[in-house]
Amino acid sequence: MLSSMDKSGPFAGKLPRGKSLPIGDGGEDVWIDVIQKMDEVYAELVRSQTELEEKNVRLEEAHDFIGSVLAAMTDVVIVCDADGLIQQVNPALESAAGRRESELLGLPVTDIFDEASRAAVAGFLPELKNSGSVAQHDVCLAGPDQGNALVSVNCTPRRDSRGRLVGMVLVGRPIGELQRAYRELDAAHQKLTQTQQRMLVSEKMAALGRLVAGVAHELNNPISFVFGNMYALKRYGEALTRYLAACDEGGSREEMEELRKQLKIDRVLHDIGPLVDGTLEGAERVRDIVQDLRRFSSNQEETLETFNVTRLVRTAADWVIKTQRVKPSVRLDIPDKLEIRGRKGQLHQILVNLVQNAADMLEGNPGGEIVISGEKVDGEVVIRVVDNGPGIPPDRIDKIFEPFFTTKPIGEGTGLGLYVSYNMAVKQGGDLTAANRPEGGAEFTVRVPFDDNAPA
Ligand SMILES: Nc1ncnc2c1ncn2[C@@H]1O[C@H](COP(=O)(O)OP(=O)(O)O)[C@@H](O)[C@H]1O
Ligand SMILES: [Mg+2]
Repeated sequence: MLSSMDKSGPFAGKLPRGKSLPIGDGGEDVWIDVIQKMDEVYAELVRSQTELEEKNVRLEEAHDFIGSVLAAMTDVVIVCDADGLIQQVNPALESAAGRRESELLGLPVTDIFDEASRAAVAGFLPELKNSGSVAQHDVCLAGPDQGNALVSVNCTPRRDSRGRLVGMVLVGRPIGELQRAYRELDAAHQKLTQTQQRMLVSEKMAALGRLVAGVAHELNNPISFVFGNMYALKRYGEALTRYLAACDEGGSREEMEELRKQLKIDRVLHDIGPLVDGTLEGAERVRDIVQDLRRFSSNQEETLETFNVTRLVRTAADWVIKTQRVKPSVRLDIPDKLEIRGRKGQLHQILVNLVQNAADMLEGNPGGEIVISGEKVDGEVVIRVVDNGPGIPPDRIDKIFEPFFTTKPIGEGTGLGLYVSYNMAVKQGGDLTAANRPEGGAEFTVRVPFDDNAPA
């Protein structure tokens, strides 16, 4: 290697001035000049060789660097010349196309794509010449695994230092795998949606079934005793008609007495009042159930009004407690004035239902206490109704909001209170939740939004 030579050159110092070659006059100087020149040339040679070597090292480093970048890319890279012949590819392209670099170099780029994509790829170069750019294309490499070789290709021009088009670079993102994953995801999503819809339908059907069964059961009782009473009243009516007809015909006192006994007129007269009352009661119960249902299914929007929640809580609690035999104590933990603009009637009904439930659970309990707290939190009024009763059995906590779910004896509970209340709260954009307190008793929390600036 030249670089290992002495940098001062092989001739330097070997012919010291004064010791000339025997070539005649002036010949010595000429030789010295020649040797000096040779030394200079040699030094120049060494310098340029060193430079070349340094450049070589840098080139090798740059080559390695580009090679490592290309190898690290998961996108496929194809470099082509101005005739569309492949000049360089990266390992990602090799594995996508299933062919080695040595087999690919020099091939027309169209050859490595499948039949359907060739026309598009063939158009890249002309398009680059015309407009300078090519829109993104999804094309398929003619690889071993067609599904995997789908690439979304970006094509950019390659220019020399004078700006002339000398080829193009294709960078393609393999989207086969992605598309397959998308398809699978889409299929899974559709399946899930269908399952969800089926579950929703079956849940709705089950709820409807429960509702119908509940309504049938609830209505059956009063209707059957209304029927029973009506038959009895019909018989009583017939007996009275016969008796009155006999009176009109002017029967003797004994005959009339006899007929009165036979037709059990005294019992008829005694029973008729309670029978009518019972029938009315049954009819009222039917009306109540229908009203509860209608209120639930009604789409009528209650108008907004400004009211004091504290007053509303107080009246709701008063209404309920008045009807209790053993009255639980009621404590209000709520500011005197808590004014909001909202749906007063619905909130009142929800509160009545909650307080009634708490009072029912405390029935006959001399230490029974109901605490109602209220506050405004983030545009909602939050009211908690807490009791120190037995609480809700954990396995029933998700059932209590179902229609007709009641643990109360027939005739006492309709099982619609929480169902209706929950739906009222939710319809307004609020919520109603139930929980058991660690220290015992149940806690119901109702939240309803309010808007102090809303028009009525
Ligand atoms: N404060 C409470 N403590 C314990 N259980 C309750 C409470 N409130 C409601 N429940 C349970 O929820 C059920 C359903 O209540 P609701 O829908 O109002 O119907 P109903 O009061 O007619 O039974 C009640 O029967 C009861 O089992
Ligand atoms: Mg109730």
